[in-house]
Amino acid sequence: MRRVRLGTLDVSRIGLGAMGMSAAYTGAGTDDAESIRTIRRAIDLGITLIDTAETYGPFTNEQLVGRAIKGHRDEVVLATKFGRLSHSRGGTRVLDSSAANIRTALEGSLDRLGTDHVDLYFQHRVDPGTPIEETVGALADLVAEGKVRHIGLSEAGPATIRRAHTVHPIAAIQSEYSLWTRDPEDGILSVTRELGIGFVAYSPLGHGFLTGQIRSTEQFDSTDWRSSNPRFTGHNLRHNLRIADEVAAVAADAGTTPAQTALAWLLAKGDDIVPIPGTKRVSRLEENLAADRIELTSEQLHRLDQLPPPAGAHHEDADMRLLRR
Ligand SMILES: NC(=O)c1ccc[n+]([C@@H]2O[C@H](COP(=O)([O-])OP(=O)(O)OC[C@H]3O[C@@H](n4cnc5c(N)ncnc54)[C@H](OP(=O)(O)O)[C@@H]3O)[C@@H](O)[C@H]2O)c1
Repeated sequence: MRRVRLGTLDVSRIGLGAMGMSAAYTGAGTDDAESIRTIRRAIDLGITLIDTAETYGPFTNEQLVGRAIKGHRDEVVLATKFGRLSHSRGGTRVLDSSAANIRTALEGSLDRLGTDHVDLYFQHRVDPGTPIEETVGALADLVAEGKVRHIGLSEAGPATIRRAHTVHPIAAIQSEYSLWTRDPEDGILSVTRELGIGFVAYSPLGHGFLTGQIRSTEQFDSTDWRSSNPRFTGHNLRHNLRIADEVAAVAADAGTTPAQTALAWLLAKGDDIVPIPGTKRVSRLEENLAADRIELTSEQLHRLDQLPPPAGAHHEDADMRLLRR
């Protein structure tokens, strides 16, 4: 596995997203033993970056990651996130990036992860109630104390990224980026590149859609995040299947799987982009990581760049309003 840098932080070219092991998707939490095998296999294969968050579960995903990395802490670049739960308001699901909440959240994360520091600590969503300078100032104090090594922001807008970076260097922005969610190309990547900030691409497989394995909403149980997502429902899903079919056609041409093609396209976008595909299965992990050795031709990349735009927003309305602030 190749290595790249997020700011000054050395990470594997591809990371592993742990969310779906415990939350969001059908089958989450049903096979923790296979999830732990997946994380350990990832470490064996040279993955360093493992991504979780306080809110996945909540809490259970960090506990799972903590169990999986026990005895391997030094081989892992551990990324987690705060700010979608407010501890001063009884742990309710509201945005809170106040200094006091960050400190409480971090202590909980360290405990669940079984470590004394987080390598990359992300604000999960920008909190309009707390100036970003206060948030990053609090994080800088935690860096000085050795409890946090690098700071990241998830789904922040360009102006917020600039303001944050003046308080303390930001190592990475984490936002959704994939063949069917190209929003970061509109003003985010130009800012991160100008400031020397890395980019972590979440949901790089389009929440599984780009792999071609999802053909119907019927495949999801009622708690699955995708069962009410605009892109995965009704006419939109039927329209969007054309995208998955074209990815599969390019993959056949390249002699790869669709998942590998989706990841190889992201890798070709630049060394500053680190995808964190999520899977709770060893076999799919191995498939996804092999994308590190795949180079698509310029014609294949062009076909992928020309995919039709998806129907439907990539989040429901309330969640869309939390992006790019
Ligand atoms: N910052 C944020 O706000 C934010 C938001 C969402 C996600 N994330 C992070 O990004 C990570 C990845 O995103 P994601 O999990 O949402 O989406 P993703 O990586 O785009 O897709 C994950 C889905 O694809 C399936 N899958 C994985 N590899 C596959 C393959 N080779 N063939 C067929 N299906 C495959 C997985 O199922 P199985 O697990 O059953 O294999 C899972 O349902 C998360 O784990 C999380 O750490 C961050």
